[in-house]
Amino acid sequence: MPRILTIANQKGGVGKTTTAVNLAASLAASERRTLLVDIDPQGNAGSAVGVARDEVEGQSLYEVLLDGRPVSEVVRSTELKFLDLVPASRHLVGAELELAGTERRESRLREALREVQREYEWIVIDCPPSLGLLTLNGLVAAQGVLIPIQCEYFALEGLADVLRTIDLVREGPNPRLHVDGIVLTMYAQNNLATQVTDEIRSHFKKEVFQTVIPRNVRLSESPSHGKPVLLYDVASKGCQSYLALAREVVKRAEKLGRAA
Ligand SMILES: Nc1ncnc2c1ncn2[C@@H]1O[C@H](COP(=O)(O)OP(=O)(O)OP(=O)(O)O)[C@@H](O)[C@H]1O
Ligand SMILES: [Mg+2]
Repeated sequence: MPRILTIANQKGGVGKTTTAVNLAASLAASERRTLLVDIDPQGNAGSAVGVARDEVEGQSLYEVLLDGRPVSEVVRSTELKFLDLVPASRHLVGAELELAGTERRESRLREALREVQREYEWIVIDCPPSLGLLTLNGLVAAQGVLIPIQCEYFALEGLADVLRTIDLVREGPNPRLHVDGIVLTMYAQNNLATQVTDEIRSHFKKEVFQTVIPRNVRLSESPSHGKPVLLYDVASKGCQSYLALAREVVKRAEKLGRAA
């Protein structure tokens, strides 16, 4: 059984996609068979691993969620041997509305992923910046949720909404959902970032990963080359920090596995 990890925060631009892509790539680099699932209509995770949103028309997560197409028919391989992708397409924009009137609308993704669960050790899901049906599908499908928070002034704004949504999912369709951790992203060395980081750590304590992702230009450049950072600049601080985060994520998952 794979560990399914959803990267969620309804606040936009906090590093969800950067984290999903580079965490998935780091897991794959350690030869763990990993599936990256892009449930954001923006399709950023797909393009960050070299699959453009326009070239997947008719063969994307949309068809899986709406037409019951098997995941195995839309999976793409990537430049990394151990990393596959389920791409998003533009049509996913309408999926929230189209799904609204359907049965088991929040568990479509969970059911679809069952088909491929033997093939992967890790499944990493990149969510859109909203708490709509797509993110809900991500939370219902997962065992763990990872929340990226940008080290900036309004960092905590909206966090209560994510946590409340997670609680609702736990009380309803997915009681086993666990907050695997909070990851601090885009850290720049200045007083504000230090203050924000201290505040988050004192509030959330052990839930915050030790690894902090620095602001690093290589992380923002690599998507335009269609590559995770480890195929673009493995020596960069950004790459090394995501490799460290992956080690921490794996360690936490192993601990949880033992506790279960
Ligand atoms: N650690 C970092 N250092 C430098 N740039 C970063 C870093 N993390 C993310 N970025 C850049 O910041 C922008 C937002 O990041 P990203 O797309 O990962 O956020 P997101 O939460 O997925 O956004 P959205 O809510 O739109 O899906 C992107 O241009 C990305 O390249
Ligand atoms: Mg994104």
